Amino acid sequence: MVGKYATLREELSARPRTWLITGVAGFIGSNLLETLLNIGQTVTGLDNLATGKLANLEEVRREVGESRWKAFTFIQGDIRNFDDCRIACADADYVLHQAALGSVPRSLEDPIATNEANVTGFLNMLTAAREAKVRRFVYAASSSTYGDHPALPKVEDQIGKPLSPYAVTKYVNELYAEVFARCYGFEAIGLRYFNIFGRRQDPDGAYAAVVPKWFAALLGGETVYINGDGETSRDFCYIENAVQANLLAACATERGAVNQVYNVAVGDRTTLNQLYTMVRERVVKVRPEAGDNEPIYRHFRAGDVRHSLADIGKARRLLGYEPAYTVQDGLKEAAEWYIQRFCPEQA
Ligand SMILES: NC(=O)c1ccc[n+]([C@@H]2O[C@H](COP(=O)([O-])OP(=O)(O)OC[C@H]3O[C@@H](n4cnc5c(N)ncnc54)[C@H](O)[C@@H]3O)[C@@H](O)[C@H]2O)c1
Repeated sequence: MVGKYATLREELSARPRTWLITGVAGFIGSNLLETLLNIGQTVTGLDNLATGKLANLEEVRREVGESRWKAFTFIQGDIRNFDDCRIACADADYVLHQAALGSVPRSLEDPIATNEANVTGFLNMLTAAREAKVRRFVYAASSSTYGDHPALPKVEDQIGKPLSPYAVTKYVNELYAEVFARCYGFEAIGLRYFNIFGRRQDPDGAYAAVVPKWFAALLGGETVYINGDGETSRDFCYIENAVQANLLAACATERGAVNQVYNVAVGDRTTLNQLYTMVRERVVKVRPEAGDNEPIYRHFRAGDVRHSLADIGKARRLLGYEPAYTVQDGLKEAAEWYIQRFCPEQA
């Protein structure tokens, strides 16, 4: 590990802080928790277990060991409930707000539920964090905010019209954060995640993301479906890069770095067809039959953008963000985790 992130981790280890992670039992939240506990931080986590799992927290506990685990307090609560937010924010230096209902298709099916968690819940958290006088509020924004804007790569200040209720909610988060900065002098940073993947990302359910879904299907000998012609592309980004961005954003001191939004990605475009080949290559190492598995192409999915690729120059410049994992590096590590989970005898 090099650069600003390595220095920051050393500084935090030497002078531990208190953090609140919302959505701590989910994919990104539990990975943030693991890193923060590993560098000796004190952490409170809030989650209502809507999509998160206690098993994720148990895994973090095994990974970090009992003595580090003691620095963690879990609150099973709901960001739609202001009192839960207030209790969770007490004593926090930094808030890493990840709790939300993800998934474009889910938001198309139930826009009200998505709005309640992602907009009402967000405003509750922002208000509670402000009242608690936290130093900084870092929140999960989304690449979906680029909507129908055609430019590639995506640059933070050029956004189009949202293509789904989910995208609306994530854009509203940015608007609220900006207004809190302007009206109350509150410090927030939004991280527009681009297709984050890695250990503990849920492969189950109707709204699973593509990387875990395909690992699960190929390891289980099931059919893989590709929505559209497979030439849809994304800037897939390994979880360690997203964790890095969160810590850098929380502690950023650069002039002009605060009250901004940043792309969090690798800056590299992978089509679904390429991704399928890469995932299958990994799986074939433990399950050779997967080499014969050919995907089935089906209709394009409503609300999906065709291409997505980030310009990560702003995060590099103002946060010192330097993605340490390429897509291939990340898939290698993710494969180890999914193989351990689905074919432990091969791991
Ligand atoms: N994974 C990605 O590629 C990606 C991309 C863009 C944005 N995001 C955003 O990143 C954040 C984390 O996503 P993730 O992939 O880890 O998803 P996840 O579903 O694994 O985690 C979300 C967590 O929030 C919790 N949660 C949901 N509603 C809640 C509520 N009302 N009160 C308390 N907790 C609640 C869930 O139980 C879950 O543990 C979300 O805000 C998501 O919108 C993720």
